[in-house]
Amino acid sequence: MKRLDNRVAIITGGASGIGKAAVEKFVAEGARVAIWDMNEEHGNALVAAMDGKASFYKVNTANSDEVNAAAEKVIADFGKVDILVNNAGITRDATLLKMTDEQWDAVINVNLKGVFNCTRALAGHFKDNGYGRIVNTSSVVGLYGNFGQSNYVATKAGVIGMTKTWAKEFGKYGITSNAVAPGFIATDMVKSMPEKVLDMMKDKAPLKRLGQPEDIANAYAFLASDEASFISGTVLSVDGAVTI
Ligand code: NAI
Repeated sequence: MKRLDNRVAIITGGASGIGKAAVEKFVAEGARVAIWDMNEEHGNALVAAMDGKASFYKVNTANSDEVNAAAEKVIADFGKVDILVNNAGITRDATLLKMTDEQWDAVINVNLKGVFNCTRALAGHFKDNGYGRIVNTSSVVGLYGNFGQSNYVATKAGVIGMTKTWAKEFGKYGITSNAVAPGFIATDMVKSMPEKVLDMMKDKAPLKRLGQPEDIANAYAFLASDEASFISGTVLSVDGAVTI
């Protein structure tokens, strides 16, 4: 018996980076997975490697109409949804005095409203089924702040607030709501940073390395599994101890 046998999961931002590792992990653990992403090319390539266990849906999570339609379609296609991993996220960095309205709005719309849109679209279904796992992606910067990321930090701190709120609102229906706070993980989002900064980050972490996407995917899978059935409203830092 695998950890996620007979489960159906939606993983947003599942076409690349951490989300892609999560799709691979969830399939390896027995789940069937709906990938919600805007990158069709990466999404379809991943689906082709998943042996019929994953499907791609082109969804902009910032758009509530698209999200609501995709939720209905996934429920029709798979018969049910058990797990929602709100992983999609973007950055548009600038220090406060240089940050434009466009940068602020873009990040709020995907990282905060997107998480709201997706969870609202599935929570009624989870409630009707008496079962659901909500796993949200925050960040260590949502706990501690970060230079040049007012918009991103606001969303990642907001995700923690929503995670705890949903734990309180939906606990009585057998639904758990947790967040993972990744440290610096070697994906495209981080690889674009200067080598010097990456070395500094590695050095700062007691475990002396960047995280790998699989480190986060493993935490998602645990929180999505029945082993975590008495865990709700928590924020699990997966960061090589960089924040202690
Ligand atoms: P990534 O940039 O490698 O992948 C993000 C995926 O989300 C892409 O496939 C992209 O197409 C998709 N996406 C972006 N906007 C979308 C939208 N509106 N609708 C649907 N899909 C959308 O990013 P990465 O590094 O894998 O990040 C995943 C999550 O982890 C994000 O929420 C990020 O904020 C968070 N995180 C990442 C850290 C890191 O060091 N890489 C650290 C802390 C948190």
